[in-house]
This record gives sequence, structure tokens and C-alpha cells, in this order.
Amino acid sequence: MSEFDGDFTVIPEYKVLLIDDDKTYAQLVRRVLKSCRTSRFDFEWTPDFQTAVDSLEADAHDAYLIDYKLADHDGLELLKVGSRRNCRGAMILLTGAGDSSVDQKALELGAVEYMEKHRADGPMLERSIRYAVQWKRKEEELRAANEQLKAHQMQLIQAEKMNSVGRLAAGIAHEIKNPLAIISMGLDFFRNKSAKDEGMKLAVDEMDDAVTRADRIVKGLLDFSAPLELKQRAEDLHAVLSKALMFVRHELHIRHIKVKRELAPKLPLCHVDANKFIQVFINIFLNAAYAMPNGGVLTVRTKVRSLDEVFTGLTEDSAEEVGKVITVEIEDTGVGIPEDKLDKIYDPFFTTKPTGVGTGLGLAVAKSIMLLHGGGLDVENKENGGGVRVTLSILV
Ligand SMILES: Nc1ncnc2c1ncn2[C@@H]1O[C@H](COP(=O)(O)OP(=O)(O)OP(=O)(O)O)[C@@H](O)[C@H]1O
Ligand SMILES: [Mg+2]
Repeated sequence: MSEFDGDFTVIPEYKVLLIDDDKTYAQLVRRVLKSCRTSRFDFEWTPDFQTAVDSLEADAHDAYLIDYKLADHDGLELLKVGSRRNCRGAMILLTGAGDSSVDQKALELGAVEYMEKHRADGPMLERSIRYAVQWKRKEEELRAANEQLKAHQMQLIQAEKMNSVGRLAAGIAHEIKNPLAIISMGLDFFRNKSAKDEGMKLAVDEMDDAVTRADRIVKGLLDFSAPLELKQRAEDLHAVLSKALMFVRHELHIRHIKVKRELAPKLPLCHVDANKFIQVFINIFLNAAYAMPNGGVLTVRTKVRSLDEVFTGLTEDSAEEVGKVITVEIEDTGVGIPEDKLDKIYDPFFTTKPTGVGTGLGLAVAKSIMLLHGGGLDVENKENGGGVRVTLSILV
């Protein structure tokens, strides 16, 4: 908090907690800080160790003046608490005369400043608090920037991993595709030859099923790895959604799953590859269906939002210039995804389905299709549990 003095200069205000069992010293500090003209202090004092621990944990003050010698504890213990809790307030250790050896130790434990009590007059105390708080704020900014950097690096590593998996997969897929085609032709030949032999027919059909399954995996791999060529046209997304729902009608029906549509009254046309979008929707619908083996509700919701609703921080002017975002939310009432699996579901081949049922490529392919469209795909568990929400976003 800050306020203006008569000259309209901003006077900084600091919340300060003194932790010291010497009441006289506390009164002195109170007086000294009160008479300070360049900063304003909201001063509190406690002689009690536990109260100090609670305050550090609540992170409620800008600065903590911590006496080195407390009744049953020492100030270093409080520094440890503050550091462990990543306390954002600046901790300043106060020592008596002759305790200067704790200086180094105090810094190691996270103190920003160290002062001998008897030397700390008003201006010095004021300056130390101000500098310590600034230092701590800068440190916090740096820490936040570092976190961001780390998150971006992780994304880059993940993208690189996807890239190499993609390249590898493309090579393998091409190698497998040709033998599969030859086997398939061979099976056709046998089928014609063995039209009258029931046993032979059964065996050929089973082999044919196996080849079809393998072919599906190969096709998925190629979809995932090949730089997809998009055939984008202005499309009505509601029509695309209806088509995709039609393809999975049977899967939903046998599991007694109801479809609830909450569609935006008017959806602008968007520039997409309809077939690729159908592929994305089908995978999401089938994932949802699989998560609801005993029935449930599949909700399909579309919304049109302006970009500034999605990204805060745009100025009004820039928000008017930029376009709109269509979001498609697909919710199920299924089993949900365990939290520790949430960051793996986009990995190619990550599946919790039995072998032969899922290839684990669905979401990997869906995500890359959405990214190619300049859109996004997010999967999360619903806030109140009981199912998953997939959100697709497309710029129009
Ligand atoms: N709606 C959902 N509810 C619960 N789990 C889900 C849901 N959607 C995805 N998952 C989890 O994410 C995993 C990966 O999904 P993804 O679509 O990529 O592959 P898959 O469905 O297992 O196989 P494929 O789609 O290739 O046939 C699933 O195996 C499942 O564990
Ligand atoms: Mg799937």
C-alpha cells in the first residue's frame, strides 16, 4: 500500500513484524519507525516463537526483523522456517553486539540482511527494510521468470521428443505397410481358392482381421508423423460434429450413452479440414465412450468467444482488431483420468486400453491436427470429478 504526501510523491508502506522478546527494544523500534518520514510502516511485534512461525507461514508481512536470541529458540530457526516455506517477505536478522559470526550463517539460511541491534538507528533501519524488501521482490521476479523458462524448456524437449518419435515412426510405418499389402493380397487369393472350405475360410478371416488391425496402427503412425497436408475450407463446425457423431452412433448406443447438445445459436464458418476434424472428434467421442462402459452422458457444447475473453491482458483496442475463438467442449461422465497420467496422454503409444483395442495414437494425432490448424486441444478432469472435459479451440 502507498499513499501520497502533499508533494504527490509516493510514500512506500511496509508491513513489518519484529520478533524479539525484549519489549523495550520493540517500543524503541516502533517509535523509530513511526517517526520515519520517507516510508510508512505498519508495525507489529511479537515475542512469541509460534506466532512468528505462523506469520512466516502465512507470508503476511513485507519484512521480518528477527532477533537472533529468543527465549527458548534462536532466530536462525525462524530463518529456516521462512526459507522452507518460500516466504516472500524479506527476513532481516538482528544480533546483539559481538554476535557477528552468525552473519554468514544467516545469509545461507535465507536472510537478506543482517544488522547489529545497537547500531540500527531510524534512517538505517528504514533503509535496510526498504532495500531488503526490494531485493526480495527482485529475487521473486527472477524466480518466477526462471520457472517460466523451465516450463518452456520442458515444452521444447517434449516437442523434440515428439519430432524424433514421428520421424522414427514414419520410417517403420513405411517398412510395414508394403508387407501388409502383400499379405492382404495373398489372403484375397486364399479366400477365392477356399470358398468351400469353412475351416480355411475362418482362418483367412481371422488373419484378415489381424492385418486390418496392423494396418490401422500403421495408418495412425503415418497420420501422426507425416507433415499433414490440410485441405482447409470454410466449414460449418456443427455439421462436421453431426457427421462425426453419426460415425460413432453405434458405439454410443450399445453403451446406453445419451448425447446432449448445447450448441451456440450461431457459429461463424471456420477454415478447417473437415475430414481431419472428423478424425479428431471421433477419437474424442470413442475415448469418452470407452470411459463410460455402463452408460452416461456425452455433452457437446460449442461457444463463440472474443479473444479477449480467452486471453486477458489485451487492451480494448487490440481486442477489437483480433477475431473470435470457437471452442468445442466435449464432456463425459466417465471414470476420469488419474492425475499422474494427465501429462502422458498425448504421448504416442500411451494407452490404458488392452492390446489390440487402443494404439495410444488418438490424442497425439488429434493434438497435432489441432496445432496445424493454429488451434488447441486440452484435456482435463472436470472440476467436480466424474469425467473428462476436452476443449478444442479454433480461431476464426
Ligand atoms: N475421456 C476419457 N476418459 C478417461 N480416460 C481417457 C479419456 N480420453 C483419453 N483417456 C486416456 O488417455 C489415453 C490415450 O488416449 P488416446 O486417444 O491417445 O489413445 P487410445 O484411445 O488409448 O488409443 P487410440 O485412440 O489410438 O485407439 C487412453 O488410453 C485413456 O487412458
Ligand atoms: Mg483414443
